[in-house]
Formats: sequence, structure tokens, C-alpha cells
Amino acid sequence: MSIRPIVITGDPVLHTRAQEVSEITPEIETLVADMYETMAAAPGVGLAATQIGVGLRIFVFDWHDGEIHHRGEAINPTLELSPISAEWPDEDTESEGCLSIPGERYPLKRADRAVLRAKNLAGEDFTIEATGWLARIFQHEFDHLDGLLYADRLLKPYQREIKKVIKYEGWGEPGNSWTPGVDYLEP
Ligand code: NI
Repeated sequence: MSIRPIVITGDPVLHTRAQEVSEITPEIETLVADMYETMAAAPGVGLAATQIGVGLRIFVFDWHDGEIHHRGEAINPTLELSPISAEWPDEDTESEGCLSIPGERYPLKRADRAVLRAKNLAGEDFTIEATGWLARIFQHEFDHLDGLLYADRLLKPYQREIKKVIKYEGWGEPGNSWTPGVDYLEP
């Protein structure tokens, strides 16, 4: 297992629809193990394969919801959502971030409920009915597999701000990455 570099916005792999996994091979097992290790080191609550430069439909998640620990891998997932409110998002309770736009957080409305259906590494189908932050994590990671970042979904004023940051940091073009535990990131 190893920690892999996390690709930063601007790299085509993050902005392209990822491909279905056709077979769970030892290479896929290694990939998923590396995704867990990279997510833990970042640290993050979710990580998509595209974020370590692999265009396959897999994400991992790790979220404590009170007593319940949600941790798993979702291979070839589908996601069913409740309607998304058209209200303005709350900066304190609805701001999310992304390891591929490191250090930034912006508010965004998401569906309150999400039903995730996917396969795990054992090839078993599973379903999780998520609410709250877990539902948000699923939506964020699922978007990654469709080549979408949360920046793409932000309301105009926030989108303007994040675009400025991306330009200022010299991101927004191919070839940028950071490695958890190696590169220092300002909190
Ligand atoms: Ni992300």
C-alpha cells in the first residue's frame, strides 16, 4: 500500500467521465487500498479514483455519524437523490471542500437524502440510504466520477471567488498534484 499524489484541478482526469470497472482484479484491490491510505493521510472523508489520476468509477468514504462509522468502497455506483433546495446555502453548515482544490471551502446546496447502490471489493452489491453529511459526501464523490468538481456547481459569486483562487495558486492546468504527508498545506 502507498500514499499516492492527489491530482489538483485543471488536470483532464478530474474533468472527464470515469469508466466503469469491468472486473475486480488484484490491481483494483491495490488501487482501493491506496485510496484508503491516501484518504486517511490527507486527511479526507472521501476520495475518488480520479483524484489519484485513475479514470475508473470507484470512490472510498470514511465518515463518523455519531456512533455509526461509515467506511467503504463504492465500485460502479449509482446515486438516487431527493430534490435539492433552491435556497441560498449556509456558509457555516453547508460549506464543503475538496482535496483536489486543497485548502478551500465554499457553501453549496446538496440533496438531503441520497441512496447509494454499488459493489464492494468482494463483488457484493450494497445499498446505503444516507442523509446529512454522508449524503453530501456521496454526491461530492459521485460527481468526481462524472468529471465534476464542487467548484463547477457553486453559485456565481462563489464560483468567481474559487476561480480567482485557482488562478492565483497557479492551478487550473494539467500536471499539478500534492502528496499527503510530504507537501505542507496551509489549513
Ligand atoms: Ni473532491
